[in-house]
Amino acid sequence: MFDSIAPRYDLMNRIMTFRLDVAWRRRTVAALDLPGGSTVMDVACGTGDLCRDLHRAGHRAIGLDMSWGMLAAARTDAPLLHADALLQPARSGAIDGLSCGFALRNFTALEPFLSEAARLLRQGGRMALLEVDRPTSPVLRAGHGLYFGKVVPLVGGLFSDRDAYRYLPRSVAYLPPEPELLAMIAAAGFSDVDKVRLSGGIAQLITATRS
Ligand SMILES: C[S@@+](CC[C@H](N)C(=O)[O-])C[C@H]1O[C@@H](n2cnc3c(N)ncnc32)[C@H](O)[C@@H]1O
Repeated sequence: MFDSIAPRYDLMNRIMTFRLDVAWRRRTVAALDLPGGSTVMDVACGTGDLCRDLHRAGHRAIGLDMSWGMLAAARTDAPLLHADALLQPARSGAIDGLSCGFALRNFTALEPFLSEAARLLRQGGRMALLEVDRPTSPVLRAGHGLYFGKVVPLVGGLFSDRDAYRYLPRSVAYLPPEPELLAMIAAAGFSDVDKVRLSGGIAQLITATRS
């Protein structure tokens, strides 16, 4: 699916989120709160937006993704790895930071991803996970459901692959409820696990420190 949407992926992101995704990614990099020169693995890097923001912030970014199409469309100078987020080709404790944007929903299981993140990060290393979310307010939630359930697949059909953009609202439901997700992260070996709602709760930023 990601191979097929790769050529128009960036355009669709900007349209769907009215460019809010650009600010969310920058906030994700800032939330890592790491000194310049840190080595940061951007897991499921897609077309490399987060890698570019990491580079701009003075970090040494490495992108990792499983889709050849996404990697081929990537616009970044960062080294790119074709690999599975659930089994990453790097030695334990090798990285200072790990970012991951809009990909948690796509992993076949979260525990193996979190245990890989904990293995790769040095002690005190930081993780920042950016993901879509559903607003808690019932009114906003209804509008959000309508937008992602009806409008996004329509626009996706015009510019890209309609079925792929139908998958988006369904994939949000796949994430475990907030307390369960945060507990899962803590259990994988992280402390200071924190979640911030972005833009009225349509996105979320989870940060944690490797214990
Ligand atoms: C919605 S895109 C997000 C891309 C990018 N992080 C961003 O912020 O725009 C999800 C990405 O996750 C990748 N992906 C899904 N499952 C993966 C896995 N098990 N290992 C590595 N990448 C994976 C897909 O290939 C796709 O590029």
